[in-house]
Amino acid sequence: MATHWFSASERNKHHICDVLKQVLNSNDSYSVAEVASGHGQHICFFAKEFRQSVWSPTEINAEYLNRLTENVNREQLSNVKPAVLLDASWEPSRWKESLSVNGYDLVININMVHISPFEATIGLFNGAASILKQNGYLLLYGPYAIHGVISPESNVKFHHWLKSKCTEWGLRDIFELETLAHKNNMVLEKTIDMPANNKILLFRKLSA
Ligand SMILES: C[S@@+](CC[C@H](N)C(=O)[O-])C[C@H]1O[C@@H](n2cnc3c(N)ncnc32)[C@H](O)[C@@H]1O
Repeated sequence: MATHWFSASERNKHHICDVLKQVLNSNDSYSVAEVASGHGQHICFFAKEFRQSVWSPTEINAEYLNRLTENVNREQLSNVKPAVLLDASWEPSRWKESLSVNGYDLVININMVHISPFEATIGLFNGAASILKQNGYLLLYGPYAIHGVISPESNVKFHHWLKSKCTEWGLRDIFELETLAHKNNMVLEKTIDMPANNKILLFRKLSA
């Protein structure tokens, strides 16, 4: 699977970074955590664009975590913290143990919620809400269903391919995600269409 998303990440990091520039001021300092950093392609790229911010990578998969650590070390970025183990489906208390900073401005999660059991998505909203500051953002990137409808056909095929790999995987519905957000005192503030039939969903934490 790694080779599938590796090249996609090289392409989409530029588009996602353009959106980050609308959310973050590159001269200001923010605390940013990434859930499911994979090999660290995004976090290394973003950390170079936002040098004043502190970036915290995380991964569940031990092999990817090693690769992530190697990549972060090779880049010698002083504003990237050592990568830590984090399973999105963990309880918020375990998130807080792993990500020791007290209050994040932004949590990013790219191409994970469709390729993990729904527990990981539930945990992502619970965990992100527990570490975000008031008015902090949870940014999700990937393909989504809307009111049970998946389009275009390429995303329908992708959904079926995911289901064939694991019945617990598959595109998540934006409205299902909004329900999780509301339970955690978050609102979907923006939905941004991205290339290749993906979207960015920007959820804002209303109160700490
Ligand atoms: C398609 S890859 C995307 C990796 C990276 N975000 C990127 O776009 O290059 C999916 C990632 O989700 C991670 N993942 C799957 N289940 C997870 C979970 N429960 N908690 C955290 N990460 C998870 C995998 O280990 C993998 O790194």
